[in-house]
Formats: sequence, C-alpha cells, structure tokens
Amino acid sequence: MPTSLTDTSAYQALQQHLEDARHWQLRDLFARDARRFETFSAEGAGLFLDYSKNIVDEKTMTLLCALARNAQVEEKRDAMFAGEEINGTEHRAVLHTALRRPRSDKLQHDGRDVVADVHAVLDRIADFTERVRSGAWLGHDGRAITDIVNIGIGGSYLGPKMTCQALRPFCHPRLKMHFVSNVDGHDLDALLPQIDPSTTLFIISSKTFSTSETMTNAQSARAWFLQQAPESGLPQHFVAVSTHLELVTKFGIAPENMFPFWDWVGGRYSVWSAIGLSLALAIGIDGFRDFLAGAHAMDKHFRTAPLEKNLPAIMALTGIWNRNFLGSTSISIAPYHQDLSLFPGYLQQLEMESNGKRVQMDGAPVSVATCPVIWGDTGTNGQHAYFQMLHQGTDITPVDFIAALKPSHHLEHHQARLLANCFAQSEAFMRGKTADEVRADMSAQGLPDAEIARLIPHRTFPGNRPSNTILMDTLTPSTLGALIALYEHKVFVQGAIWGINSFDQWGVELGKVLAKNIEAELVGQPKPAQHDSSTNGLIARARKAMQ
Ligand code: F6P
Repeated sequence: MPTSLTDTSAYQALQQHLEDARHWQLRDLFARDARRFETFSAEGAGLFLDYSKNIVDEKTMTLLCALARNAQVEEKRDAMFAGEEINGTEHRAVLHTALRRPRSDKLQHDGRDVVADVHAVLDRIADFTERVRSGAWLGHDGRAITDIVNIGIGGSYLGPKMTCQALRPFCHPRLKMHFVSNVDGHDLDALLPQIDPSTTLFIISSKTFSTSETMTNAQSARAWFLQQAPESGLPQHFVAVSTHLELVTKFGIAPENMFPFWDWVGGRYSVWSAIGLSLALAIGIDGFRDFLAGAHAMDKHFRTAPLEKNLPAIMALTGIWNRNFLGSTSISIAPYHQDLSLFPGYLQQLEMESNGKRVQMDGAPVSVATCPVIWGDTGTNGQHAYFQMLHQGTDITPVDFIAALKPSHHLEHHQARLLANCFAQSEAFMRGKTADEVRADMSAQGLPDAEIARLIPHRTFPGNRPSNTILMDTLTPSTLGALIALYEHKVFVQGAIWGINSFDQWGVELGKVLAKNIEAELVGQPKPAQHDSSTNGLIARARKAMQ
C-alpha cells in the first residue's frame, strides 16, 4: 500500500472529481434538488446533522467514503475500541471510550477488566460528590463546602470548565465552581480574595502531576490555605485527580483523597474520567452518568452506523473535502447557545493538539495539509465581530453552527430570534447575494443609478461558503456528552485518513524545556548570554525589570 495519501487511487479520484466540483454553486445545487436537505442530513445519539450546505453531491460523498474505507478507518476504529496500542509513539492504548461504557460491559486490557476499574472509581466519585453536595463533607472548622477550585491546565482544565458552564442550569445552587489554569499569578491572585479557605475544596487535576503551571498553582494554593488554616485541615480541602499516586502522595495528598485514572486516557480526552470530578460535583453523579451515557450513545452510533450515515465520519469527510480539496485553512465554530461559549476553545485543544501533525505514523512527511485552525465564539456575538470576514473576506472558512431547539431558560421569546439568526447565517453563507439582487434592492429604494453602480461590488456577497448545522433538542448532560464524542470521533477519522497519530503531543515539549532553562536565567545568578540576540535581549530586559 502506498504510504502517501495523494498516491492512492481513492484520493486521485477525488482530485479528478474536483475538476467538476470547483465550478459548483451551492445555490444551484439546492435549486436542482428539492430533497437536498433530506439526502445530506443524518441523525444519531440525539443529534441531527445537516451537511447539505457543503459543496458536495452524492458522488462526492461516495468518493469520500471510499477514501475512508481505503484508509481502513473502520478497522482502525475497531482497534481503538478494542484497546490495541494505536498510540504508537507513546506505546499506549487509546481507551477514553471505555470510560463511558456501562457497568455490564467488559473489556480486558493488560490483564485487567478496565470497565470494572472505571466503575470502581465512578462509585468513589459518587460517594464523594454526594457527601460534598449534601453538606456532609465538612471543612476543617465544621462548615460545608461552598467553593470548588479546579487547578489544572489543558485537558485537566478545558473539559471541566467548558462542561460546568455548558450545564449551568443543572449545577448545584450552593457550590460555586472556579477554575485556575494559568501560571500567570494574576489567575490565582484574582480568585483568592473571593474564597474562604474554610469552605473551599481544591481539586488538583493533573494526569502527570508534574505540569509546571498546575504544580505552581497547587503549591501557592496550599501555602495560602496554610496561612489561614491548620495543617490537619488539608485532607478536607485538597483532593487530587491523577494517574501518578507517588507524586500525589509526595505533594501531601493521601491516597484515599486521590481519584485515579489511567495512561490510556489522553489529557484532551479525559473529561470522562475522574478529571470530570468538578463536573460531577456541580451536576451530581446522576447527571455525570447521563453525560457518560450520551457519549456512549455516540460511541455506539460511530461503531455501527455505515459511514454514509455516520455523523463523525460525515463531519470528518466533509472537513477533509473542505481542507484538502477546496483549500480552507480554518473552521469557525459557532454555538448558538450562550452556555456553549467555551466549546470553541475546548475544540481547539481536541482538534489541534490531536491532528496538528506533520508526519505520518511511519515517520514520513504527510502529503496533504492536516488540522485546520479551529476558532470561534457564540454565534450572535461572532456576527457582530468577525462574521463580516466570513461573508466577504478573501478566505473561505467553513462554519459549524450548533444549536439547541429548546432553551433551558424562561425568556422564551428570545429563542425564535436566536434560531432565526443561526439559520439566516447559514443561508446567507450558502446563497450569498448577487449583483443583480443588490441592484434590484437598491433600485426599489430609489437610489440613483450611479450610486447603485458604485456600491454594487461592496454590497455583493459571493456565497458558496460551506457550513454544517448540528441540532439537539435541548442542551442536557446527555446531548453534551454526545456532542463532545461526535467531535472526538471526527478527529479520529481525520487522523486515520491523514495517517497521523492523533494521540501524542510531542509538539508541546520543546517550549517546556526551553522555559525551564530561561527561568533559571531570569532568576539565578547572571550567566553568559546563551541564546540568539532576540531571546538574550528579552531576558536582559526582564531581569532588569524584576530586580
Ligand atoms: O499541553 C500538553 C499537555 O500534556 C496536554 O496534553 C494536557 O492536557 C496538559 O498538558 C495537562 O497535563 P496534565 O494533566 O498532566 O497536567
């Protein structure tokens, strides 16, 4: 089998097909086929996907599915679910899907039933969260916990924070959730005056328990606590989530206050593990189990639906069409739901840390572009900021619109206006507005011909800009679980086709090592300049300022 994707006949068939497709206009595709919406939409695990506003026809989808089959996506998917060592550069299995399997399932890995291990930890989480939520877990001076502070970064932060915000209406009214991630002292410093050490629970969340940002914040939080409370109170106020018992114990947290997980859970896939402890505290164990069940439903859909009707596969394949054939360089994520405002940031780590790779599994350079830039904000806010560029800029940026049909609030007259905006934007991206339409509008307003002629280029919209729309009934723990799992599996399918390892992240290492050296130069005895003139100059200026 050729090692390069572009050498495959499946890829070349798509390139050939592009010769036609590059001339298509979405508005013509819709005009020609009254059933386009029915043909290019699919449903699963409580989510509905309309991908009809992509520049595809049935042949495009057939060829894209052939590309996936040729890349053995289905076999690779089954290998992941079975616990094979698919993260070859770290010699690890990739089993975050095991975290959401029901108790009745079994999965052997390294001589253990991982499902039983997962449920043993979930039972501990159930017991602990129930005690904190009910007020039975007391702080050192006998008062109930009111504030939870998750200290963690990357996957040990983005998932917990995003999900707690997304499920805001389900959260416990007494417990205030806080998230500290940045090594910049402004982050923790801004929080400390708002909380009382006697009623605060710190969760130190770190897979490795050695991440510099997290350990710095954890040490500072511990020191702050000890300035105001006795050392004997630490166990009631500090718990850990990690894979690293030894380092947790060394930090001073007892094993019974540590919630473990396993090295087969990648950081950006860890919200389903004990890393989700803050979410379980916020929404309760039943809500957390619903969240896992929603993701499991998407797992089942991903494993069983044919690629042609498989939501993650369709998202991945239309994404590959846009990226590798139509040349888009980024995707804008537009949740039309305020509680999903952190979802674009969450997806940045999920997609870009997973698929921001330039070599294949076999070490050879990839032959096509891989992960696009992922960015975005809530839809209506984006409309008044950067949507101008999406409509009329020189780059074509596909958009993922995400909306819940029913709101979780009582201001019901807002909902139709919100959804109208969401659907209007995707229609506008698709249709655009031709010069003739602009002329007719302005003539009807009685504008002089010269003014019309002058303004037409500015007021014309090219359209033909692709988008997906993902709908759910309401945003609940279960639909949120399904939504995250949808994107996880989309990332998997794309990584499998590009032939890369979606589960390592060597690219974050170099900066970490250099930062250690530079920190020593910033605070230690002066050393001879060791870097390029820019880095030396910056270090010198900072040293001077910090003296
Ligand atoms: O940024 C690199 C990374 O390893 C992420 O993959 C991970 O989510 C994050 O750091 C935090 O790591 P840890 O949970 O080990 O502190």
